[in-house]
Amino acid sequence: GRQDKIRNFSIIAHIDHGKSTLADRLIEKTGLLTNREMKDQILDNMELERERGITIKLQTTRLLYKAKDGEIYTLNLIDTPGHVDFTYEVSRSLAACEGAVLVVDATQGVEAQTLANVHLADEQGLEIIPVLNKVDLPSARPDEIKAEIEDVIGIIAEDAPLVSAKTGLNVEEVLEKIVNDIPAPSGDEDKPLKALIFDSYYDSYKGAVSIVRIIDGRVKKNDKILLMADNKSFEVAEVGVFSPVATPLKELKSGDVGYITAAIKNVGDCKVGDTITSFSSPTSEPLPGYKQATPMVYCGIYPAEGESYDEIRDALEKLRLNDAALTFEAETSVALGFGFRCGFLGLLHLEIIQQRLDREFDLDLIATSPSVIYKITKTDGKVVFIQNPTNMPSVSAIEKMEEPIVDASIFIPNEYVGNVMELCQNRRGNMISMDYLDEKRVKLHYELPLNEVIYDFFDALKSKTRGYGSLDYDFKEYRESDLVKLEILLNKEIIDAFCMIVHRSKSVSRGRQVCNKLREVIPRHQFVIPIQASIGTNVIARETIKALRKDVLAKCYGGDISRKKKLLEKQKEGKKKMRQLGSVEVPQQAFLEVLKFD
Ligand code: GTP
Repeated sequence: GRQDKIRNFSIIAHIDHGKSTLADRLIEKTGLLTNREMKDQILDNMELERERGITIKLQTTRLLYKAKDGEIYTLNLIDTPGHVDFTYEVSRSLAACEGAVLVVDATQGVEAQTLANVHLADEQGLEIIPVLNKVDLPSARPDEIKAEIEDVIGIIAEDAPLVSAKTGLNVEEVLEKIVNDIPAPSGDEDKPLKALIFDSYYDSYKGAVSIVRIIDGRVKKNDKILLMADNKSFEVAEVGVFSPVATPLKELKSGDVGYITAAIKNVGDCKVGDTITSFSSPTSEPLPGYKQATPMVYCGIYPAEGESYDEIRDALEKLRLNDAALTFEAETSVALGFGFRCGFLGLLHLEIIQQRLDREFDLDLIATSPSVIYKITKTDGKVVFIQNPTNMPSVSAIEKMEEPIVDASIFIPNEYVGNVMELCQNRRGNMISMDYLDEKRVKLHYELPLNEVIYDFFDALKSKTRGYGSLDYDFKEYRESDLVKLEILLNKEIIDAFCMIVHRSKSVSRGRQVCNKLREVIPRHQFVIPIQASIGTNVIARETIKALRKDVLAKCYGGDISRKKKLLEKQKEGKKKMRQLGSVEVPQQAFLEVLKFD
């Protein structure tokens, strides 16, 4: 039948193993675009992604491939992000597929996210096709890496294509494998419509656009559809496919991957993971929704001087449409006024949202210290979960405090084992095991408090392993811990936006670091500014910013007018990015600086 000629698949890989390059090559080999148009990696088409070199947003592309058997196949390539923070988005897109191409860099071997991605594909019951990439490089070790895939992952890799996504070598073999090894979809086009929304975005002309996999049935323009989560109905305005830009079609049928628009204005109506069915003859059973991703890291987001609260809320709502893992609710800060408490999967997710607010929505923001969720048992027996450090109850009301612990897998070349063990030790880690993958590489398994991972653990790991270390982690459990609330005072006033919860053993060094950073970034005022870090009433660190010397301008006497001008200019420039916290003007950059630890 018609569906026999459809293959729905994703490419999964550890970061930098060549997923996007292979995707480009597959697109090119199927004749979709000319070489010139291939210049930019079209799948990584957001400015931000190109800059950071990682894929965030899901994209799908329809390819037409004439296979060696003479038949023409429709290959729907569904892109997935590769970073540890986006595990959730990977499962979303995998649910729309029957198979996955697993790319492993033949010079590197199996890494933390290789394994994490394989687990996700396995959970969805996908056919996994291993492919060894970068065989053009002299350091490629295809035979060893094949053995490693079989040992560590447990899938047969004997016949894995040896490709170079860069030169195009053996890429055709991958296309043949996709056609021959990945099962065709097996839905029924005569059953009631059942479509899975696995991604969505907001288009200013079309409204909310749902990217869907049609499981059963068919859908076309003017059909009345029902979005099952909220039981809301709409009339279809357009259906189509991405090849690679949105191209309208008459109809989508079971097995197809494409998009549906229905003049859905309220972005919240179009939920990723929801099932679309027919209004007049609905399916009896919605698809099993995705596991809702639970945010692990929270921070406050506040408008910078002169920005509007409403605009930020609007932007957050739009971002949430295709990022169900992003959560937010209104909150107020004494220091910063009205803003939002936002939840993220991890620190990278937080950074990306902040940057998207800045670039795509042109919003200037202040983010407060990130925090994990602490579990507190109070002396009255009540259990509360705290995601904002300022809400920590007073010490006398706390019976027991617990923090989230993660299971971390760390893959590193063996010469860095010492460095990484020291890093984990400093981050209160607990080693569970150490396994040799081959003579050169080691897998460390650690338990780590998430509160130590969310700061700059990933960056620290990269720098201690010259970029060769990889990390994946999963929530394990809550565990009792000796935690304290660290408060920062500027000119004797507590600044709630700088408040953080830290382990007692770290409190003094953290307090000193923050005071030190603030002293560096806050300019002198007309008065002396004491900076203090305290736990309760106990001051554990202090710094002082001296008062401005009255003669700072007078000193540039003697005709050096340009220097004087420059100085005034600089002061004006600095003013623009200042934030009044109590009596003290603090540069916005301070909020970022205090999050960085060595
Ligand atoms: P993320 O999008 O960050 O997950 O990375 P990715 O897996 O998509 O990797 P990408 O395709 O961006 O490739 C990473 C780097 O490896 C790029 O610099 C590519 O040019 C390079 N690369 C990819 N494939 C090959 C190959 O076959 N040979 C060589 N020599 N380099 C390659």
